[in-house]
Amino acid sequence: MKFFIDTASVDEIKQAMDWGILDGVTTNPTHISKEGRKFRELVEEICAICPGPVSAEVVATDAEGMVREARDINKIADNIVVKIPTIPEGVKAIKLLKEEGIKTNATLIFSAAQGLLVAKAGATYASPFVGRLDNAGQDGMEVAEQIKTIYDNYGFPTEIIVAAARGPHHVLYAALMGAHITTMRFEIMEQLFQHPMTDVGLERFLEDWKKVPQ
Ligand code: E4P
Repeated sequence: MKFFIDTASVDEIKQAMDWGILDGVTTNPTHISKEGRKFRELVEEICAICPGPVSAEVVATDAEGMVREARDINKIADNIVVKIPTIPEGVKAIKLLKEEGIKTNATLIFSAAQGLLVAKAGATYASPFVGRLDNAGQDGMEVAEQIKTIYDNYGFPTEIIVAAARGPHHVLYAALMGAHITTMRFEIMEQLFQHPMTDVGLERFLEDWKKVPQ
């Protein structure tokens, strides 16, 4: 399973690259707004740091505007993917962009029906927001699993990005269900490494090593 980082922070992306486990980046308007930098130059820098797919989102809400913005975003780098909201105009835009060979990430997916729609339109990636569904009292992973079953049933090439992960458990469930990708915030990626028994065990090994005649 591929690991994407859900951020627009250059420092976080560089750290994840340094760990050697990063396959891509997903930004969104909220992440971009936190960095206090111009959209285009920031996304350009991110694309240069991470060679994997980097998603950058349109803010138009009509298909024509989305397509216009997507064409422009697509020129930023070869590894760019254009994030499109899963609304009727967005689905229309995804289909038009597919015909132009522009890669898309259908975002804000909250139901399996939406997952089916964007795959039919030819989205490169589909992002169910599992954590936000959990927060709303639904089972986010169930929706992701349904989308996976639908894609397997019909051989859709659209890759599932389990998004809005809220902890290592979501990453684990995503891997167990065979999702292609999980996108996660930096803190969650950090948490994946951690186990208190690893720290205690290592401390003991290092202490015992001091007793070995050198
Ligand atoms: C995915 O691509 C989104 O950027 C992201 O997962 C949003 O999730 P949040 O609920 O953590 O903001």
